[in-house]
Amino acid sequence: MKGLFLALNLKNLPINMAGSDETQIMQFENEHFSKADFGNDFCWGTVTAAFQVEGAVREDGKGASVWDVFTHKRGKIKNGDHADVACDFYHSYEADLALVVEMGFTEFRFSIAWSRILPDGKGEVNQAGIDFYNRLIDKCIALGIKPWVTLYHWDLPQALERLGGWKNREIIHWFSDYVVICAQSFGDRVKNWIVINEPMAVAALGYTTGLHAPGKRGLWNFLPVTHHLAMCQAAGGRILRERVSDAYIGMAISCSHIVPYTNAVRDVRAAQRADAVMNRMFIEPALGLGYPSDVFPFLNGIKKYMLPGDAEALQFDFDFTGIQNYFSITVKHSYLIPVLWLKEVPATLRNVPVTAMGWEIDTEGTYKILKQFSAYKRIRDIIVSESGAAFEDRLVEGKIIDADRIAYFQQYLGQVLKAKNEGINIRGYLVWSLMDNFEWAEGYRARFGLVHVDFDSQRRTMKESGKWFARFLKN
Ligand code: FCB
Repeated sequence: MKGLFLALNLKNLPINMAGSDETQIMQFENEHFSKADFGNDFCWGTVTAAFQVEGAVREDGKGASVWDVFTHKRGKIKNGDHADVACDFYHSYEADLALVVEMGFTEFRFSIAWSRILPDGKGEVNQAGIDFYNRLIDKCIALGIKPWVTLYHWDLPQALERLGGWKNREIIHWFSDYVVICAQSFGDRVKNWIVINEPMAVAALGYTTGLHAPGKRGLWNFLPVTHHLAMCQAAGGRILRERVSDAYIGMAISCSHIVPYTNAVRDVRAAQRADAVMNRMFIEPALGLGYPSDVFPFLNGIKKYMLPGDAEALQFDFDFTGIQNYFSITVKHSYLIPVLWLKEVPATLRNVPVTAMGWEIDTEGTYKILKQFSAYKRIRDIIVSESGAAFEDRLVEGKIIDADRIAYFQQYLGQVLKAKNEGINIRGYLVWSLMDNFEWAEGYRARFGLVHVDFDSQRRTMKESGKWFARFLKN
């Protein structure tokens, strides 16, 4: 059982700290497109998530989240890292937002820590938590930045986990109550909303392999957790639609172009199963297509957790689909992995370029995944709601040289533009991440930021990639 999603290698590859290969570095001042090519109304932004940046985990009445607990268990996070302080964004948000402006971005996506608003997950509201997000939102607006709020980026209140967390169907009520509070408190100023960030990561890593908080393992958790996440995704959308005027509401889906290792039928079928799990699980129920059990009958087991009316309640007409594509995956059939009957052929064995996470760099795969999602008839806008890469940054004479990252963005944006020019309704591009931060089970070693953070001194230094964006977005 334990091996199920390990097989798919969802973000659990070891970091390759060997450093970047100079030969991969492209010339970065000669890109063949400019900001104008994306159109005047295209949104450019950066992203963070509460647990990865805020710190202040016990301040101003905040309750514990599953990640607060998980990070203090031995052996769960590389290097024994935790996020008690992280980037100290809770205190430094004003200066950090100034960097967003300096780089020329006009949108800032961040998440709300549920346990700051409701320390016990439900019941009494913590006004100090609301006040913090009010200050953050107001500062964004004062600086001319549009806030994009993610309601759930993986930090479930620990008090709710004690009641079963995402395994307990009651979560639909707990989550709905929380969304109502956020809509009422912030909806007058926040118009852009993402309900749940990458629900697949919660189901697969949080409750199946246990690599993420709350660290639960077991294949049979996967089905109820998936269903409750999908129900909450739609319920959250409906609440925002009812309570926030002019809301622009989206989901944020992790997705990967999947390649069968060979053309053999069993490898092709393995790729279809991987596609069902990694790409189709959360968008298709929202679009009214149900769970993708056509190619993966195991998913029929979800029916056991469905009550009358759920098939309808899973649907919501999202204004946008957030695409979060970090890597492509090659898979082949395997008799060793029960249920899925497939395994990943790791990028490192195929001699293809990888990031410091060991993730395959395949920006053409991005184009293909954009095509794949845009083929759904009922899909509306697409926003690239996260995109970025970890590399081994080099400090040279006070500068953070990250030419690999610049090359990555250039290639990625080139593919986004190609898809857009072919008529796909892509409306924005949000960079993961504003700054280096706590990268979940990888701790602080994996650096994704446009801004370098020295975690001892909390000093920020804009990387060359941040300066590249500043130049690119000025034109
Ligand atoms: C995404 C997560 C984000 C960060 C990046 C690297 O899947 O949403 O929090 O971990 O990957």
